[in-house]
This record gives sequence, structure tokens and C-alpha cells, in this order.
Amino acid sequence: MLDHGAAPTATKTPPRPPGGLGTRLMRRKPVEDLVAEGGQGEGGSLRRSLSMWQLTMISIGATLGTGIFVVLGEATPLAGPAVAVSFVLAGLTALFSALSYAELAGSIPVSGSSYSYSYATMGELVAWICGWCLILEYGVSVAAVAVGWGEYLDELLHGTLGVTIPDAVAAPLGEGGVVNLPALVVVLLAMVFLMGGAKESARVNAAMVVVKIITLLLFCGIGFLGIKAGNYTPLAPLGITGISAAAATLFFSYIGFDAASTAGEEAADPKRDLPRAIMLSLLIVTVLYCLVALVAVGAMPWQDFEGSEAALARIMEDVTGHSVWSTVLAAGAVVAIASVVFAVLFGQTRILFAMSRDGLVPKVFARVNPRTGAPRANTVIVSLFCGVLAATVPLGELANATSIGTLFAFALVNVAVVILRYTRPEMPRTFRVMLFPLTPVLGFGFCAWMMLSLPGATWAVFALWMIAGLVFYFLYGLRRSRLASAEK
Ligand code: ALA
Repeated sequence: MLDHGAAPTATKTPPRPPGGLGTRLMRRKPVEDLVAEGGQGEGGSLRRSLSMWQLTMISIGATLGTGIFVVLGEATPLAGPAVAVSFVLAGLTALFSALSYAELAGSIPVSGSSYSYSYATMGELVAWICGWCLILEYGVSVAAVAVGWGEYLDELLHGTLGVTIPDAVAAPLGEGGVVNLPALVVVLLAMVFLMGGAKESARVNAAMVVVKIITLLLFCGIGFLGIKAGNYTPLAPLGITGISAAAATLFFSYIGFDAASTAGEEAADPKRDLPRAIMLSLLIVTVLYCLVALVAVGAMPWQDFEGSEAALARIMEDVTGHSVWSTVLAAGAVVAIASVVFAVLFGQTRILFAMSRDGLVPKVFARVNPRTGAPRANTVIVSLFCGVLAATVPLGELANATSIGTLFAFALVNVAVVILRYTRPEMPRTFRVMLFPLTPVLGFGFCAWMMLSLPGATWAVFALWMIAGLVFYFLYGLRRSRLASAEK
């Protein structure tokens, strides 16, 4: 049994724990231990201050952003007007997994999200793999999102000041520039706000979420006036293959609904509020996405989305004939995408916090500032990593890598919910997946389908990422794991 009161330990030269390699890779962390050590970090504790609405806002904050404002423009040429159907497909994939997330978040309300659920059900190696995928979902997506932010910032500066950011500092190598400075700036800005702690972060986040919802509703209202029925036919010029390819790309826009589950240790009533926040945020973003997609392809021929940056802003301008509206949209998008950077960065710091407490990554990630209750060193390290990535790697590469990592983590959550039902049937659950086990099986199947729809290059990146993760685990986590120390 672990010593719950103690801070995480990681000795300099850890002795080899007992048991064969297989036993060590499969060691599970008891649910009770996960819950009991909630909040505890190095030198301080996280604070329980977040309400159900703030948790919902964190999830919406992490979800609504580059996907709808930028990736929609990249996915539409793949599917044609049926891109709205692709949104529904991607949304279904998210929904089945969201149900599993809701059940697990209500029973294991900690900060590690699916990493912690896997640790309790499938053992350390799978948990590590999941945590490593979550770094793709959160850390790499921060970078992807930040890149999208730069596109709308450029649009905004152009509309207001007539200034265009020079290519050399607006895009990375390989995309006509040298470095993407705006992407770096937005990550560093988010870092500064996050240093204030969960409560402050939640306030800033909520304000930004309100702005982005209003912006998208405004787009729907104005874009609706420009809809031409002819733009919807033929509905699916590229067939079902096109629809599923677009869905896989658009899955990116749903990433983040699970962010509330990374705030489990800062929620005032996590067992009650986490499941509600996850489901509510997914419902809100799905409705908004489908509306925006229907309006966008109705107002602009699908072929015109090809190569069009800031597509929604362009539609606003085309429909009204005034550039002021595209500037308003660009301003909303700048806030919207910044809020994703902010909320996703928050999630990444909390996941690493949980992994560090378990000894699988260095303990600096679990250090908490006693004054703010924020993991400050963690926030700085994660921000610098994401900032550099955002400044130097193109968006498309990053977005697909994020999607494949997320889909893998979601697939594991669907497996975890099934395992926990059989191994711990008596455990109190504030939310139960309906139509069990069909729902998690469908969730798993949808995730696998979406993964298989992603291009070979993405799989190659994923394979390299996994190999790097396994090397790190066998060289570091396997021996420094806190469970390993407890087995001594
Ligand atoms: N879902 C997030 C976005 O679309 C990652 O920006």
C-alpha cells in the first residue's frame, strides 16, 4: 500500500524492484490510492475550487477553436458539402468515448484523466502509453492550435491596421517562413495567466469561452443570409471515403471535451460535476459545429475552401460585402483559439502532475507553488516545449499527430470502463454508461475506424512517438515508478 501522506519519491539510484518484468509492467494502482492522494504535490496541494460551470467552461475552452475556425477549411475539400456529416461522425466518435470518460471521471476523480484510469485497470505500461498519447493530445495540440491562432491574428492585424505579419516570422521552415512567432507568443501569454492558479485560470477561461460562443453564433446569423441551396448539391461529391477522411481530420475539433477530467483534483465536487461537465460541453460544441458547418458550406462553394486560410472570416466578408465583419470574426477567433491554448495547456500540466506523482516523469512536474496552488515549474517547462514546437512545425502535421494520439487514448478509456465494471462492480458510480457493454465497444470501434482513416505519414509519426515513449519508460519510469518503490 502506498504512503498517501508522503510527497512523491524518486531516489537517485533506485533499486530493482522484485517480480518479473511482466509483473512489473502490469502493476496496477488501486483506485482508492489514486483518489486518496488527490491534490497532493511536492511542497503543496492543488486547491479544490472549481464549480460544475467552470469545469464545463474548461472543457469548452479546450475544445472550440482551431478545429472550427481553421481545420474546417482544410476538411471541406475532402468531403464537399457533406462536411457537416463528417462533423456528426467525428462527434459520434467523441460521444461514445465521452460516455466512458464520464463514468470513469465520476468514479476516479483525479487529475491524470485517462492515464490514471488506465493505471487503475490495465497496469503501468498501458498507463504510460496512454499518458504518452495524452502528451500528443494536449502538449502537441497546444502547438497545433497556436499555429492556427497566428492565421487569424494576421487577418485581424490586416483588417484593423492594414499590417501583414511578414512570412519569415509567421510560418515555420517548409511553409515559406523561418519561425512562427505569433504561435510562440500565444503560448507564452497563456503560461503567464496559468501561473495564477486554477481559480484565476478558470475566470480568464470563462470570459474567453463566452466571446467565442458569441462569435460563432454571429457567424451563423450572418452566414445564414448568404446560403445558396445550390451549394449543397451534389452533397457528397467525394463519396463515403471523402466523408470519413474529413471526419478523421475534423476529429481534431472535438479534442479537449475531456479537459474537465484533468481538473479532477481542483473540482469542488468532482464525482457529481465531472460527468456532467464532460457531457454538457460535448453537447454544446457538437450543436455549434454542425450549425457552423451547414452555414459555411451553404454560403461558400466547397471548392473555394481549398487553400483558403481563415475561411470563416472570408465568408463573413463575402456575405456582407464589408471587411469589418471579417475583422470582427477574426477578433473572436483570436480570443477563441487563445482560450484553447490556455485550457489545453492547463490540462497538460495536470496530466504531467499526476504522472510525476506516480514517479513516471521527473518530480519537478508535481511541485506546487504554496502561494498560488499552481504547479508553476511544470507550467513553465510545458509552455516552453509547446511554444518551440508551435514556432517550428507546420499545423497539418501537428493536427493529425494530435488526433491519432487522442484516438488511441480514447480507445483505452473505452477498454478501461469495461475492465472496471468487471473487476470492481461494487464501486460507487455517479454516472453509468448506458447500453453497456455496447456503448464502449462502439466507442472503441469508432476510434479504431478514425485512426485507420488517417494518412500513412501520420501513422509513421505515431510509431516514432511510441518508440520514443517506450525508450523513456524503460530507461526511467519502470524503475522510478512509485509503485516500484512501494513494492521494495
Ligand atoms: N479541439 C481543439 C481545437 O479545435 C484542439 O482547437
